[in-house]
Amino acid sequence: MSLTDKMRVLVTGGAGFIGSHTVIALEEGGFNPVILDNFSNSNKSVLNGLKSILGHEVVCVEGDSTNKETVRNVFDQYAIEGVIHFAASKAVGESMQEPLMYYRNNLGSLLTVLEVMEEKKVGLLIFSSSCTVYGEPENTPVTENTPIKPAASVYGNTKQICEEILHDVAAAKPFKIISLRYFNPVGAHTSGLIGEFPIGVPNNLVPFVTQTAAGLREKITVFGNDYPTPDGTCIRDYIHVMDLAEAHTAALSYIAGLRTSSFYDVFNVGAGRGNSVLELLNTFEKVNNQPVNYQIGARREGDISSIWGNVEKAKQVLGWEAKRNLATALKDAWRWQQHLSES
Ligand code: UD1
Repeated sequence: MSLTDKMRVLVTGGAGFIGSHTVIALEEGGFNPVILDNFSNSNKSVLNGLKSILGHEVVCVEGDSTNKETVRNVFDQYAIEGVIHFAASKAVGESMQEPLMYYRNNLGSLLTVLEVMEEKKVGLLIFSSSCTVYGEPENTPVTENTPIKPAASVYGNTKQICEEILHDVAAAKPFKIISLRYFNPVGAHTSGLIGEFPIGVPNNLVPFVTQTAAGLREKITVFGNDYPTPDGTCIRDYIHVMDLAEAHTAALSYIAGLRTSSFYDVFNVGAGRGNSVLELLNTFEKVNNQPVNYQIGARREGDISSIWGNVEKAKQVLGWEAKRNLATALKDAWRWQQHLSES
Protein backbone atom coordinates (compact mmCIF):
# COMPACT_ATOMS: atom_id res chain seq x y z
CA MET A 1 0.00 0.00 0.00
CA SER A 2 1.51 3.34 -0.98
CA LEU A 3 1.28 6.28 1.39
CA THR A 4 -1.43 7.92 -0.65
CA ASP A 5 -3.64 4.84 -0.74
CA LYS A 6 -6.57 4.97 1.63
CA MET A 7 -7.46 1.76 3.44
CA ARG A 8 -10.70 0.32 2.06
CA VAL A 9 -12.96 -0.50 4.97
CA LEU A 10 -16.14 -2.55 4.80
CA VAL A 11 -18.77 -1.07 7.12
CA THR A 12 -21.52 -3.64 7.63
CA GLY A 13 -24.67 -1.93 8.85
CA GLY A 14 -23.11 1.33 7.66
CA ALA A 15 -26.48 2.93 6.90
CA GLY A 16 -27.59 2.63 10.52
CA PHE A 17 -27.34 5.20 13.28
CA ILE A 18 -23.80 4.52 14.51
CA GLY A 19 -22.62 3.13 11.17
CA SER A 20 -23.51 6.23 9.15
CA HIS A 21 -21.71 8.54 11.58
CA THR A 22 -18.71 6.21 11.50
CA VAL A 23 -18.63 6.50 7.70
CA ILE A 24 -18.05 10.24 8.18
CA ALA A 25 -15.38 9.67 10.82
CA LEU A 26 -13.66 7.18 8.49
CA GLU A 27 -13.61 9.65 5.60
CA GLU A 28 -12.30 12.37 7.90
CA GLY A 29 -9.70 9.95 9.25
CA GLY A 30 -8.32 9.12 5.78
CA PHE A 31 -10.08 5.79 5.21
CA ASN A 32 -12.21 4.70 2.28
CA PRO A 33 -15.53 3.27 3.58
CA VAL A 34 -17.77 0.83 1.69
CA ILE A 35 -21.22 0.28 3.19
CA LEU A 36 -23.02 -3.09 3.17
CA ASP A 37 -26.55 -2.78 4.56
CA ASN A 38 -29.84 -4.63 4.07
CA PHE A 39 -31.85 -1.56 5.19
CA SER A 40 -33.87 -3.70 7.62
CA ASN A 41 -33.49 -1.04 10.30
CA SER A 42 -32.19 1.93 8.36
CA ASN A 43 -33.38 4.34 5.74
CA LYS A 44 -31.98 4.89 2.26
CA SER A 45 -32.26 8.66 2.65
CA VAL A 46 -29.20 8.47 4.91
CA LEU A 47 -27.17 8.14 1.69
CA ASN A 48 -28.36 11.60 0.61
CA GLY A 49 -27.39 13.00 4.00
CA LEU A 50 -23.93 11.45 3.73
CA LYS A 51 -23.53 12.81 0.21
CA SER A 52 -24.41 16.34 1.33
CA ILE A 53 -21.99 16.19 4.25
CA LEU A 54 -19.09 14.59 2.36
CA GLY A 55 -19.62 16.26 -1.00
CA HIS A 56 -19.61 12.95 -2.87
CA GLU A 57 -21.53 9.68 -3.07
CA VAL A 58 -20.64 6.96 -0.61
CA VAL A 59 -20.24 3.45 -1.99
CA CYS A 60 -23.14 1.38 -0.68
CA VAL A 61 -24.05 -2.22 -1.51
CA GLU A 62 -27.55 -3.36 -0.57
CA GLY A 63 -27.30 -6.85 0.86
CA ASP A 64 -27.24 -9.01 3.93
CA SER A 65 -24.08 -9.66 5.92
CA THR A 66 -25.31 -13.16 6.80
CA ASN A 67 -25.03 -14.08 3.09
CA LYS A 68 -21.54 -15.33 2.30
CA GLU A 69 -21.77 -14.76 -1.45
CA THR A 70 -22.80 -11.16 -0.87
CA VAL A 71 -19.94 -10.52 1.54
CA ARG A 72 -17.43 -12.27 -0.74
CA ASN A 73 -18.53 -10.17 -3.69
CA VAL A 74 -18.04 -6.96 -1.76
CA PHE A 75 -14.55 -8.07 -0.69
CA ASP A 76 -13.65 -8.87 -4.29
CA GLN A 77 -15.21 -5.86 -5.93
CA TYR A 78 -13.77 -3.30 -3.51
CA ALA A 79 -10.55 -5.04 -2.40
CA ILE A 80 -11.52 -4.70 1.25
CA GLU A 81 -8.63 -4.39 3.73
CA GLY A 82 -10.43 -4.00 7.06
CA VAL A 83 -13.92 -4.38 8.51
CA ILE A 84 -16.11 -2.54 11.00
CA HIS A 85 -18.97 -4.86 11.80
CA PHE A 86 -22.15 -3.12 12.97
CA ALA A 87 -24.83 -5.17 11.22
CA ALA A 88 -26.98 -6.69 13.97
CA SER A 89 -30.43 -6.52 15.52
CA LYS A 90 -30.49 -4.44 18.70
CA ALA A 91 -33.93 -4.24 20.30
CA VAL A 92 -33.74 -5.83 23.73
CA GLY A 93 -37.50 -6.53 24.02
CA GLU A 94 -37.80 -7.97 20.52
CA SER A 95 -34.83 -10.24 21.20
CA MET A 96 -36.79 -11.95 23.98
CA GLN A 97 -39.71 -12.58 21.63
CA GLU A 98 -37.65 -13.65 18.62
CA PRO A 99 -34.56 -15.36 20.03
CA LEU A 100 -33.87 -17.45 16.93
CA MET A 101 -33.93 -14.41 14.69
CA TYR A 102 -31.48 -12.66 17.01
CA TYR A 103 -29.09 -15.60 17.28
CA ARG A 104 -29.25 -16.23 13.51
CA ASN A 105 -28.74 -12.61 12.59
CA ASN A 106 -26.19 -11.47 15.16
CA LEU A 107 -24.07 -14.63 15.32
CA GLY A 108 -24.60 -15.52 11.65
CA SER A 109 -23.45 -12.17 10.33
CA LEU A 110 -20.31 -12.19 12.49
CA LEU A 111 -19.40 -15.77 11.51
CA THR A 112 -19.96 -15.00 7.84
CA VAL A 113 -17.80 -11.90 7.95
CA LEU A 114 -15.03 -13.76 9.83
CA GLU A 115 -15.08 -16.69 7.38
CA VAL A 116 -14.79 -14.38 4.39
CA MET A 117 -12.05 -12.39 6.12
CA GLU A 118 -10.09 -15.60 6.68
CA GLU A 119 -10.62 -16.64 3.07
CA LYS A 120 -9.46 -13.25 1.78
CA LYS A 121 -6.63 -12.95 4.32
CA VAL A 122 -7.99 -9.75 5.81
CA GLY A 123 -7.40 -9.65 9.56
CA LEU A 124 -8.42 -6.18 10.80
CA LEU A 125 -11.80 -6.05 12.53
CA ILE A 126 -13.64 -3.69 14.87
CA PHE A 127 -16.76 -5.13 16.48
CA SER A 128 -19.77 -3.38 18.06
CA SER A 129 -20.23 -4.69 21.54
CA SER A 130 -22.17 -3.19 24.41
CA CYS A 131 -21.90 -2.25 28.07
CA THR A 132 -24.86 -4.57 28.49
CA VAL A 133 -22.23 -7.30 29.09
CA TYR A 134 -21.66 -5.83 32.60
CA GLY A 135 -25.33 -6.28 33.60
CA GLU A 136 -26.14 -4.44 36.83
CA PRO A 137 -22.64 -3.72 38.11
CA GLU A 138 -21.69 -3.78 41.81
CA ASN A 139 -19.50 -0.70 41.38
CA THR A 140 -19.54 2.24 38.98
CA PRO A 141 -17.84 3.32 36.85
CA VAL A 142 -17.19 -0.04 35.21
CA THR A 143 -13.76 -0.86 33.81
CA GLU A 144 -12.98 -3.53 31.22
CA ASN A 145 -12.05 -5.78 34.17
CA THR A 146 -15.48 -5.49 35.76
CA PRO A 147 -16.90 -9.02 35.71
CA ILE A 148 -19.22 -9.96 32.88
CA LYS A 149 -22.68 -10.94 34.17
CA PRO A 150 -24.91 -13.66 32.74
CA ALA A 151 -26.84 -11.85 30.04
CA ALA A 152 -30.29 -10.54 30.96
CA SER A 153 -31.52 -10.57 27.35
CA VAL A 154 -31.02 -12.56 24.18
CA TYR A 155 -29.61 -9.41 22.58
CA GLY A 156 -27.08 -9.09 25.41
CA ASN A 157 -26.20 -12.76 25.11
CA THR A 158 -25.46 -12.38 21.40
CA LYS A 159 -22.93 -9.66 22.27
CA GLN A 160 -21.27 -11.86 24.90
CA ILE A 161 -21.09 -14.86 22.56
CA CYS A 162 -19.69 -12.70 19.75
CA GLU A 163 -16.97 -11.40 22.08
CA GLU A 164 -16.05 -15.01 22.95
CA ILE A 165 -15.95 -15.99 19.29
CA LEU A 166 -13.64 -13.07 18.53
CA HIS A 167 -11.35 -13.92 21.44
CA ASP A 168 -11.04 -17.52 20.25
CA VAL A 169 -10.51 -16.59 16.61
CA ALA A 170 -7.73 -14.12 17.41
CA ALA A 171 -6.08 -16.71 19.68
CA ALA A 172 -5.81 -19.15 16.78
CA LYS A 173 -5.55 -17.11 13.58
CA PRO A 174 -3.84 -13.98 12.23
CA PHE A 175 -6.64 -11.61 13.19
CA LYS A 176 -6.28 -8.25 14.94
CA ILE A 177 -9.62 -7.48 16.55
CA ILE A 178 -11.06 -4.90 18.93
CA SER A 179 -14.50 -5.09 20.54
CA LEU A 180 -15.82 -1.68 21.51
CA ARG A 181 -18.27 -1.78 24.40
CA TYR A 182 -20.64 1.08 23.69
CA PHE A 183 -22.49 2.95 26.36
CA ASN A 184 -25.58 4.94 25.26
CA PRO A 185 -25.04 6.69 21.91
CA VAL A 186 -27.11 9.86 21.46
CA GLY A 187 -27.11 12.99 19.32
CA ALA A 188 -26.53 13.35 15.60
CA HIS A 189 -24.06 14.83 13.16
CA THR A 190 -23.92 18.54 13.89
CA SER A 191 -25.10 19.36 10.34
CA GLY A 192 -28.50 17.90 11.26
CA LEU A 193 -28.42 15.95 7.98
CA ILE A 194 -28.04 12.46 9.43
CA GLY A 195 -29.17 10.98 12.73
CA GLU A 196 -31.17 8.18 14.29
CA PHE A 197 -34.18 6.86 12.31
CA PRO A 198 -36.38 4.99 14.76
CA ILE A 199 -38.84 2.76 12.93
CA GLY A 200 -42.20 2.84 14.73
CA VAL A 201 -42.33 3.82 18.40
CA PRO A 202 -38.79 4.52 19.63
CA ASN A 203 -37.41 2.21 22.35
CA ASN A 204 -34.61 4.54 23.30
CA LEU A 205 -34.83 7.64 25.42
CA VAL A 206 -33.51 10.45 23.21
CA PRO A 207 -35.57 9.75 20.05
CA PHE A 208 -38.65 9.60 22.29
CA VAL A 209 -37.70 12.95 23.84
CA THR A 210 -37.15 14.66 20.48
CA GLN A 211 -40.40 13.24 19.04
CA THR A 212 -42.29 14.46 22.10
CA ALA A 213 -40.74 17.93 21.85
CA ALA A 214 -41.70 17.99 18.16
CA GLY A 215 -45.30 17.21 19.07
CA LEU A 216 -45.29 13.79 17.39
CA ARG A 217 -45.91 12.11 20.78
CA GLU A 218 -48.07 13.49 23.53
CA LYS A 219 -45.68 12.79 26.40
CA ILE A 220 -42.79 10.69 27.51
CA THR A 221 -42.94 8.35 30.49
CA VAL A 222 -39.92 8.28 32.77
CA PHE A 223 -39.55 4.63 33.68
CA GLY A 224 -39.37 4.75 37.48
CA ASN A 225 -38.20 7.35 40.00
CA ASP A 226 -37.61 4.99 42.90
CA TYR A 227 -34.14 3.75 41.95
CA PRO A 228 -31.27 4.15 44.43
CA THR A 229 -29.88 7.22 42.63
CA PRO A 230 -29.83 10.91 43.72
CA ASP A 231 -33.08 11.81 41.91
CA GLY A 232 -34.50 8.27 41.79
CA THR A 233 -34.22 7.89 37.98
CA CYS A 234 -31.78 5.59 36.18
CA ILE A 235 -28.26 6.72 35.36
CA ARG A 236 -26.55 6.03 32.03
CA ASP A 237 -23.40 7.13 30.20
CA TYR A 238 -24.67 9.09 27.20
CA ILE A 239 -22.02 9.49 24.51
CA HIS A 240 -22.28 11.72 21.43
CA VAL A 241 -22.55 9.47 18.40
CA MET A 242 -19.73 11.35 16.61
CA ASP A 243 -17.41 10.72 19.57
CA LEU A 244 -18.38 7.06 19.38
CA ALA A 245 -17.80 7.09 15.61
CA GLU A 246 -14.31 8.51 16.11
CA ALA A 247 -13.48 5.71 18.55
CA HIS A 248 -13.79 3.32 15.59
CA THR A 249 -11.19 5.11 13.50
CA ALA A 250 -8.87 5.31 16.51
CA ALA A 251 -9.30 1.57 17.12
CA LEU A 252 -8.79 0.70 13.46
CA SER A 253 -5.67 2.86 13.19
CA TYR A 254 -4.35 1.20 16.34
CA ILE A 255 -4.69 -2.40 15.14
CA ALA A 256 -3.47 -1.48 11.65
CA GLY A 257 -0.25 -0.19 13.22
CA LEU A 258 0.40 -3.22 15.42
CA ARG A 259 3.36 -5.38 14.49
CA THR A 260 1.96 -8.53 16.07
CA SER A 261 0.05 -10.87 13.77
CA SER A 262 -2.76 -11.54 16.25
CA PHE A 263 -4.47 -9.31 18.77
CA TYR A 264 -7.73 -9.13 20.67
CA ASP A 265 -8.87 -6.62 23.25
CA VAL A 266 -11.99 -4.87 24.52
CA PHE A 267 -12.47 -1.17 25.26
CA ASN A 268 -15.20 0.81 26.97
CA VAL A 269 -16.45 3.63 24.78
CA GLY A 270 -18.46 6.12 26.75
CA ALA A 271 -18.31 9.72 27.87
CA GLY A 272 -17.06 8.56 31.26
CA ARG A 273 -19.85 10.28 33.20
CA GLY A 274 -23.34 9.32 34.33
CA ASN A 275 -26.52 11.33 33.89
CA SER A 276 -30.00 10.52 35.15
CA VAL A 277 -33.10 10.47 32.97
CA LEU A 278 -34.35 13.67 34.65
CA GLU A 279 -30.98 15.40 34.16
CA LEU A 280 -31.15 14.53 30.49
CA LEU A 281 -34.70 15.85 30.16
CA ASN A 282 -33.84 19.09 31.99
CA THR A 283 -30.71 19.58 29.87
CA PHE A 284 -32.72 19.03 26.69
CA GLU A 285 -35.34 21.61 27.74
CA LYS A 286 -32.70 24.15 28.72
CA VAL A 287 -30.33 23.96 25.75
CA ASN A 288 -33.09 23.80 23.16
CA ASN A 289 -35.54 26.09 24.92
CA GLN A 290 -38.21 23.44 24.29
CA PRO A 291 -40.55 22.09 26.93
CA VAL A 292 -40.92 18.31 27.04
CA ASN A 293 -44.15 16.92 28.43
CA TYR A 294 -43.25 14.03 30.70
CA GLN A 295 -44.78 11.92 33.44
CA ILE A 296 -43.27 9.53 35.95
CA GLY A 297 -44.33 5.94 35.35
CA ALA A 298 -43.51 2.44 36.47
CA ARG A 299 -40.08 0.88 36.09
CA ARG A 300 -39.39 -0.85 32.76
CA GLU A 301 -38.66 -4.53 33.12
CA GLY A 302 -35.00 -5.39 32.67
CA ASP A 303 -33.67 -1.86 33.27
CA ILE A 304 -30.65 -1.57 35.50
CA SER A 305 -30.31 1.28 37.97
CA SER A 306 -26.92 2.84 37.18
CA ILE A 307 -24.03 2.33 34.83
CA TRP A 308 -21.31 4.52 33.42
CA GLY A 309 -17.89 3.76 32.09
CA ASN A 310 -14.32 4.25 33.10
CA VAL A 311 -12.79 5.12 29.73
CA GLU A 312 -9.14 5.50 30.73
CA LYS A 313 -8.04 2.42 28.79
CA ALA A 314 -9.24 3.81 25.46
CA LYS A 315 -7.54 7.10 26.26
CA GLN A 316 -4.23 5.48 27.22
CA VAL A 317 -4.05 2.83 24.48
CA LEU A 318 -6.06 4.22 21.55
CA GLY A 319 -5.47 7.92 22.26
CA TRP A 320 -9.21 8.50 22.05
CA GLU A 321 -11.62 10.25 24.38
CA ALA A 322 -15.06 11.82 24.06
CA LYS A 323 -14.89 15.53 23.23
CA ARG A 324 -18.56 16.55 23.10
CA ASN A 325 -20.81 17.05 26.12
CA LEU A 326 -24.44 16.09 26.73
CA ALA A 327 -25.71 19.59 25.92
CA THR A 328 -24.09 19.44 22.47
CA ALA A 329 -25.49 15.96 21.86
CA LEU A 330 -29.02 17.07 22.76
CA LYS A 331 -28.78 20.20 20.60
CA ASP A 332 -27.63 18.06 17.68
CA ALA A 333 -30.41 15.51 18.31
CA TRP A 334 -32.98 18.32 18.23
CA ARG A 335 -31.52 19.80 15.02
CA TRP A 336 -31.86 16.37 13.41
CA GLN A 337 -35.45 15.97 14.63
CA GLN A 338 -36.34 19.34 13.13
CA HIS A 339 -34.73 18.31 9.85
CA LEU A 340 -36.79 15.10 9.87
CA SER A 341 -39.99 16.99 10.65
CA GLU A 342 -39.34 19.41 7.76
CA SER A 343 -38.52 16.77 5.17
C1 UD1 B 1 -30.44 -0.55 25.98
C2 UD1 B 1 -29.48 -1.67 26.24
C3 UD1 B 1 -28.20 -1.48 25.47
C4 UD1 B 1 -28.52 -1.39 24.01
C5 UD1 B 1 -29.45 -0.25 23.79
C6 UD1 B 1 -29.78 -0.30 22.31
C7 UD1 B 1 -29.38 -2.78 28.39
C8 UD1 B 1 -28.98 -2.66 29.83
N1 UD1 B 1 -29.14 -1.70 27.66
O1 UD1 B 1 -29.91 0.60 26.63
O2 UD1 B 1 -27.34 -2.56 25.66
O3 UD1 B 1 -27.33 -1.21 23.27
O4 UD1 B 1 -30.64 -0.40 24.60
O5 UD1 B 1 -30.96 0.20 21.95
O6 UD1 B 1 -29.88 -3.78 27.95
N2 UD1 B 1 -36.23 5.60 29.43
C9 UD1 B 1 -37.36 6.24 29.93
N3 UD1 B 1 -38.41 6.42 29.08
C10 UD1 B 1 -38.40 6.00 27.78
C11 UD1 B 1 -37.24 5.35 27.28
C12 UD1 B 1 -36.17 5.17 28.15
O7 UD1 B 1 -37.41 6.64 31.10
O8 UD1 B 1 -39.41 6.17 27.08
C13 UD1 B 1 -35.07 5.43 30.34
C14 UD1 B 1 -34.70 3.98 30.59
O9 UD1 B 1 -35.37 3.48 31.71
C15 UD1 B 1 -33.19 4.09 30.83
C16 UD1 B 1 -32.76 5.30 29.96
O10 UD1 B 1 -33.96 6.00 29.69
O11 UD1 B 1 -32.93 4.41 32.16
C17 UD1 B 1 -32.10 4.89 28.68
O12 UD1 B 1 -32.92 3.94 28.00
P1 UD1 B 1 -32.61 3.43 26.53
O13 UD1 B 1 -32.35 4.60 25.64
O14 UD1 B 1 -33.70 2.48 26.14
O15 UD1 B 1 -31.22 2.67 26.67
P2 UD1 B 1 -30.77 1.47 27.64
O16 UD1 B 1 -31.92 0.71 28.15
O17 UD1 B 1 -29.82 2.05 28.62
